[in-house]
Amino acid sequence: MAYIDETTINAIRRKHPIKEIVERYVSLTKKGEDYWGLCPFHADNNASMSVSPRLDMFQCFACKKAGNVFNFIALMENISYGDAIRLLAKEDGYEIGRSIQKEDPHIKDYEIFKLAMKYYQNNIYSKLGENAILYLRDRKIDRETIQKFEIGLSISKQPLTPFLLNKYPLDNLIDLGISNTDGKDIFNDRIMIPIHDMNGNPIGFGGRIYQTKDSSKYINTKATELFDKGTILYNYHRAHNKLTKDESIIVMEGYFDVIRASTIGVNNCVAPMGTSLTKQHIQILKKITNHIILCFDGDEAGKQATIRAIPLLEQANMDVKIVRLEEKDPDEFIIKRGREAFLQKIANPLNALDFKMQVLGEDKNLNDTKEASIYIDELLQELAKEKDEILVELTLKKIANRFQMEYETLNQRFIKYQLKQKSIQKTNNPNIKKEQKTPNKYGQATNNLLYYMIISANVMEQAESQVMMIMDNKKRRLFNEIIYYYHKYGELVVADFITYLTTKTDVIDTFWEIMNQNLKKTYSNEEIVDYIKCVNDYYKKNIIDKLKLDLKKETDPMKQANILKEIMKIRGVKTSD
Ligand code: GTP
Ligand code: MN
Repeated sequence: MAYIDETTINAIRRKHPIKEIVERYVSLTKKGEDYWGLCPFHADNNASMSVSPRLDMFQCFACKKAGNVFNFIALMENISYGDAIRLLAKEDGYEIGRSIQKEDPHIKDYEIFKLAMKYYQNNIYSKLGENAILYLRDRKIDRETIQKFEIGLSISKQPLTPFLLNKYPLDNLIDLGISNTDGKDIFNDRIMIPIHDMNGNPIGFGGRIYQTKDSSKYINTKATELFDKGTILYNYHRAHNKLTKDESIIVMEGYFDVIRASTIGVNNCVAPMGTSLTKQHIQILKKITNHIILCFDGDEAGKQATIRAIPLLEQANMDVKIVRLEEKDPDEFIIKRGREAFLQKIANPLNALDFKMQVLGEDKNLNDTKEASIYIDELLQELAKEKDEILVELTLKKIANRFQMEYETLNQRFIKYQLKQKSIQKTNNPNIKKEQKTPNKYGQATNNLLYYMIISANVMEQAESQVMMIMDNKKRRLFNEIIYYYHKYGELVVADFITYLTTKTDVIDTFWEIMNQNLKKTYSNEEIVDYIKCVNDYYKKNIIDKLKLDLKKETDPMKQANILKEIMKIRGVKTSD
């Protein structure tokens, strides 16, 4: 079967400028930077179809037919998108077989992994698997959980490689990190935890020792074309199926933390595998939610990992909360203290500022005047970065109270740090603009923003760093795809983006809805700031409405006060300045 990768499709497209192709069928007149002609797809007598050399696409503003060269040919010749690619390829002298597109080049690799998983699963239930089952039983992992996470066992006496060699060449198995060049298994006598990509395709394993203590605790699949630790989160494909957009994803450290959480019905957990959370991980998380709870191990390393992750998540405009556990890790916490205790923890996470306050105080003797004074200084410097004035004020009062200081003394010092912080921000970002007047149509602001993100990398960057959340599911998907595409290819060529979206049927419709608005191609920075503010205001309004509902239902005055604080916090957050 002939699979043409996107790069080839894009190269073919580049050889055929849209204007040349359209002119084979329709005569065009230049107006401004675009060309106009009678639309061949409906009875047109107004020259409603525009052809944009810049975007390399055509668009009829009457019948709404639009697309790149391949779409145009497909419509004209009444053939499929794939056949249109093949037709143009042929003109260039390429002969490309049937069944273009949609085929993932790694399908065979997934098959191999599926077979390997099956093999390992059979092993664990065989006679030689008894000790592994006992080990897992000791760790309170029952059969149901073993099955849910497709846990298996590699056994050196029953190696996998010879079995797979019946069907697949060794080179293939080496490339996938299953076998070594001698034709031997990479994993021997380890409990095998399958790892999947974002789409749920199996791409690797984590293998844990369970009998010996003499080698490394885990062996994970080596870096391969499919398996890139920096972009893969364990359990993502299961976690995101169950998630609604208001729910959080809980990030934990290890496989067994995630697995344990699922045994008490907490299914929204993922784990980066022994690496820190990367920007790519965060992009992937952002596709499904804006709310992250960091729940790393209770030790110093877990604390440090939390400290590293917070600014990355904040830069991506994620709402980040922190849970610190008084046990080694979530696994142990849940075993020792039970389901209710864990749910209680997750329901009452710390915000980033409270967490920082806690961390800064941890290794100090705060009864010692000198140490207390250092602590307060560090705290004020942290606080100066906080944008929410109400939260700042509450925190200042808290500190004043805790150390029995005059509020004003504290505030004077704080203002000094705040001024310093502002000048740092100014030098980093000289273009910060004051807030603009809000247009009242949120949907329109979202549409406009998406349009300009598509045609401008600058707008995309601005939106990526400033938009808190797009409430509309379909538009959020498009938003994420745009960002993802820019990150993947370094630029967004509209006509190529169309090819990319062609197989994503749920997003392409939204894309055309955005493109068909007939917006002007130029924009001012003020407009963009305006759209972003509007989108963020809508998000805040939604959250506040939800909190107000919670407030009505709440009877505990302490909790009421917390909700009120939350509402004020959201109102106080500024999207610009
Ligand atoms: P348990 O000790 O079985 O509970 O493991 P865990 O899942 O709690 O893992 P831990 O917190 O010790 O480590 C977090 C993650 O780091 C693991 O899930 C692995 O992905 C990775 N990791 C831990 N130890 C090793 C190791 O020795 N080698 C490699 N390559 N990865 C490791
Ligand atoms: Mn553990």
